[in-house]
Amino acid sequence: MALTRFDVVTLFPDMVTAAASYGVTGRAIERDIVSLSVWNPRDYTHDRHKSVDDRPYGGGPGMVMKFQPLHEAVQNAKHAHSGAIGPVKVVCLSPQGKPITQALLKSASQLSQLVLVAGRYEGIDERFVDLDCDEEWSIGDYVISGGELAALIVIDAITRLLPGVLGDADSAVQDSHADGLLDCPHYTRPEQIDGCAVPEVLMGGNHADIARWRMKQALGRTWQRRPDLLKNKNLDAEQDKLLKEFIVELN
Ligand code: ADE
Repeated sequence: MALTRFDVVTLFPDMVTAAASYGVTGRAIERDIVSLSVWNPRDYTHDRHKSVDDRPYGGGPGMVMKFQPLHEAVQNAKHAHSGAIGPVKVVCLSPQGKPITQALLKSASQLSQLVLVAGRYEGIDERFVDLDCDEEWSIGDYVISGGELAALIVIDAITRLLPGVLGDADSAVQDSHADGLLDCPHYTRPEQIDGCAVPEVLMGGNHADIARWRMKQALGRTWQRRPDLLKNKNLDAEQDKLLKEFIVELN
C-alpha cells in the first residue's frame, strides 16, 4: 500500500498549499497520485472571537493552543473520506518529537493517510497530544516558529518515495540516506573548471567501475562527515574493502 492522502491541520492553510504546489509535490498532487487537504482549527471554534489559543495554566509567557478546535479539525480530517481506507496516523510536529529519519518516512509512506498537525504559539494543550495524536515528530534539535514548515518537509520527503512520482524509477533509491549512506559526488559538463577535472573513471564508460567508485565515495564521505551513520550499518565485505581503500588513498 502507498500513501494517498495528506491532511494538514494548520492556522496557515494557504502557506501549506502554496509551498506544496511547486516541483515534485505539486506534480504529484496535480497527477492525483496523492491529495493534500488543509483544515483550519479556527473553523472549528464555537465562540464569537474564534479563539484558538488561551493563557497557560500555571502562568508564564505565550499562549497555548486549545484542545477543542484542534480535536474537531483532526476528527473532520480523519472522517472526510468516503470509501475504504487503510491505516491512518495522526502526527503532531514538535521539537519534543521523535527525530524523523529516511527509515521513519519510508515506513510512513506505506500508510494510507497521514494527518499532520502544525502547532503554533508556545505549545498545544497536552491532552490533544495524548488523546488525538499517535506520534510526535521533530525535524531536528532546533526550534522554528510553527509546525507548517516541518509538515511540508515531511510531505516532500514522503511524496518523492511514492510509486510513479519521480521520473527516473531509480532516483529515490539513489538518494542520500536511502541506504543509510550519504550520496556520492555528481558532475556534469564541462570537463574542466578552474583546473578541477571530472574524475577519470566517470568518463571511461565502465559501469561496474563507476558503480564501485560511487559506492567508495558514498562510504568515504559518510565516514568523514557522518561517522554516526556508519555505526548503525553493517558493511558487506566489498563495502569494507572500498572504505579501507578510500582511507588509504586519502594519505
Ligand atoms: N515546531 C517547532 N520546531 C519544530 C521542530 N524542530 N520540529 C518539528 N516541529 C517544530
